[in-house]
Amino acid sequence: MTKQQIVQYGDPGLRKVTSRVLKFDKSLRKLIEDMFETMYASDGVGLAAPQISVSKRVLVLDVDYPSKRYIDEQTKKEVPSYTPIVLINPVLIHKEGQIISKEGCLSFPNVVIDVIRFKKIIVRYQDLLGKERKLTAEDDLLCRCIQHEIDHLDGKLFVDKTADEVQMKKILEEAGFGNIISPASPIMIG
Ligand code: NI
Repeated sequence: MTKQQIVQYGDPGLRKVTSRVLKFDKSLRKLIEDMFETMYASDGVGLAAPQISVSKRVLVLDVDYPSKRYIDEQTKKEVPSYTPIVLINPVLIHKEGQIISKEGCLSFPNVVIDVIRFKKIIVRYQDLLGKERKLTAEDDLLCRCIQHEIDHLDGKLFVDKTADEVQMKKILEEAGFGNIISPASPIMIG
């Protein structure tokens, strides 16, 4: 596993629509390992492939390890409870309701803003072996995180879904991002 560089806002790759994964091979597994390594090393709960400059529809999540702990029987020490999740070619097939909550993004260091998301989603995706699966998430960090990361795969960023434009501009300026440009339609490739 290799920790990769996370690109920041301004990198054109963050505004591209990514390509579907067609081959479930060794190179895909290597990409996923690197994504987990990079996400955990950055204390993130989610990471999308374009954030490490790979334009593919792959995302990784683990919303539990920052807060959940268990006691290791051998060492008697508290250790993080890891729940790694991989979604390949994810598609939201159901979405309902609305919630507003605080979000950050590893590509925007020191930026936390209020973002509008669906309250409940059902996502269809493929696992590491290419098998089709479905996952339901409602009103929790997992639900918001999946939406945030799927947006990355479509060249959309959390700043496009802010609940408070004025607050966001101020926070972005303070974090050194200046005026943000939110294109109505992301750059298409392929
Ligand atoms: Ni992000």
